[in-house]
Amino acid sequence: MMQEPQQEHLLQEMKRMEHLLRLKEQELEKLRVSHLFLETIFDGIHEEILVIDENFVVHNVNRTFLERHGVRKQEAVGRKCYEVTYKAEVPCTFSRQDCPLEKAKSTGNRIEVTHRHESGSEDFKEVIRIVYPVAEEGKTARYFLEISRDVTEYRKLIKTLQASERRLRGILDTATDAILSIDEKQRIILFNDAAERIFGYSRSEVLGKNLNTLIPAHYGDHSKFVKRFIETKTSKVMGKTLSLTALRKGGKEFPIEMGLSHQETEGDITVTAIIRDVTAQKNLEKKLLQSERLAAVGKTVAHVAHEIKNPLMIIGGFSQQIRRSMTEEKSIQKLHMILDEVGRLERLVADLGDFTKEYRLVKRPADINAVIRDVLNIMGEIYSGGKHGFEGDLAPNLEEIICDPDKLKQVFINTIANGLEAMEGGGTITIQTRKWDPHGVEIRITDRGVGMSEEELLHIFEPFYTTRESGSGLGLSISYRIVQAHKGEMWPVSRPGEGTTFIIRLPSN
Ligand SMILES: Nc1ncnc2c1ncn2[C@@H]1O[C@H](COP(=O)(O)OP(=O)(O)OP(=O)(O)O)[C@@H](O)[C@H]1O
Ligand SMILES: [Mg+2]
Repeated sequence: MMQEPQQEHLLQEMKRMEHLLRLKEQELEKLRVSHLFLETIFDGIHEEILVIDENFVVHNVNRTFLERHGVRKQEAVGRKCYEVTYKAEVPCTFSRQDCPLEKAKSTGNRIEVTHRHESGSEDFKEVIRIVYPVAEEGKTARYFLEISRDVTEYRKLIKTLQASERRLRGILDTATDAILSIDEKQRIILFNDAAERIFGYSRSEVLGKNLNTLIPAHYGDHSKFVKRFIETKTSKVMGKTLSLTALRKGGKEFPIEMGLSHQETEGDITVTAIIRDVTAQKNLEKKLLQSERLAAVGKTVAHVAHEIKNPLMIIGGFSQQIRRSMTEEKSIQKLHMILDEVGRLERLVADLGDFTKEYRLVKRPADINAVIRDVLNIMGEIYSGGKHGFEGDLAPNLEEIICDPDKLKQVFINTIANGLEAMEGGGTITIQTRKWDPHGVEIRITDRGVGMSEEELLHIFEPFYTTRESGSGLGLSISYRIVQAHKGEMWPVSRPGEGTTFIIRLPSN
């Protein structure tokens, strides 16, 4: 009777135990899974992992560590970490590297250090080591986890990139041509020193701006070319030289030659333009063309002038003789007209002679200011009517130059006369002189007359080019040759309706 409740109790106790056992087993299974999980991570991870204690003794290492160091687990476990990793007999602090374990021990925190080893530039090695204390909150850690990442390749890559960047910068900064790159939206992303010099903008002013800032769309089809290229990745202009007009800061146009190339990195397209300022070259071409033209025309003119001279002398001489034997008033009048015209032709032939003959300059030291004062006196006498005026703005202390002052007078008179003719309604001609570096004089003759178009400017130095009814078109071509004979330069700056300035530069000898 007494046994029944006891049996019952025992049965219940057994059931409870069984239940507890099942729970424990389940927990154990969970732990086993979790351990497997950790082990998989531990061994599968790409970083080297070491489990060490406070005395540097290795308790566990992962597979990556074993593979990198070429050791077996039993060779690593139980030895000091520095022996295994560096084959050293002393902790890392001895070789002037920070020991992350020492620091983690003293602070109880996660510690990260970088270890660098350099045995010759080839054998450079860089490793980032992170040590985590493994301890429950508030307790001192007895174990530490060291995770190391070898960043040598990454560092080498950065070094190579930096070196290549420096080389590129060197090329960019020493290039005499402007080099600039744009992205797909035609925004400027690179602008070298020469580009700064040529365009007059600083890098900070143009980076991020559209290419149109430098080469306005209406000056050339570059914008279209680039757009088409970016869209279709084919282009006729890549690798070719384009002749375009560009814009300097301040709005001055100038001729350029541009070559385009493209770079594509993972879908990002960059277009690079190498731009040459061809202003000087174009000016030289223009001058050369002008000299060639002048030389060719000069030859023909010399020939014609020579052929005309003798018949003209005969016509003039016989006309004089006939004139003397004439009595009839009307015929005498007609003969006078013939003689006048012959005179005009003789003067023209003399002018042509001036134009065609080789100038033999009679040089001496002369003060250009004094020459100009003389010219202004003569012109003032001739144009004393009142509607025209002259203004001299002459630099004091101008050095004398070796020149032919009489021939130069002719240049100044021709140029001033043209200026006066350009201001039919009247106006003032200004003549400036100043020192022209290093040794020489610059003379500027300015009128506020009708000015000239681009097209006119191309022809004014050609002989017989004139827009005036009574002009011979020789004034400027003779002047040009005189200045050339002085090894000087002469050119106009002019806009229609805004007047003209002729600039003449003469070297000191
Ligand atoms: N200051 C000026 N303003 C406007 N046009 C000018 C000026 N100087 C020259 N020209 C233009 O250049 C042309 C050529 O000038 P150039 O002095 O050679 O000949 P010209 O004056 O016509 O004749 P001439 O032989 O009598 O001097 C002129 O006809 C004129 O059209
Ligand atoms: Mg003239």
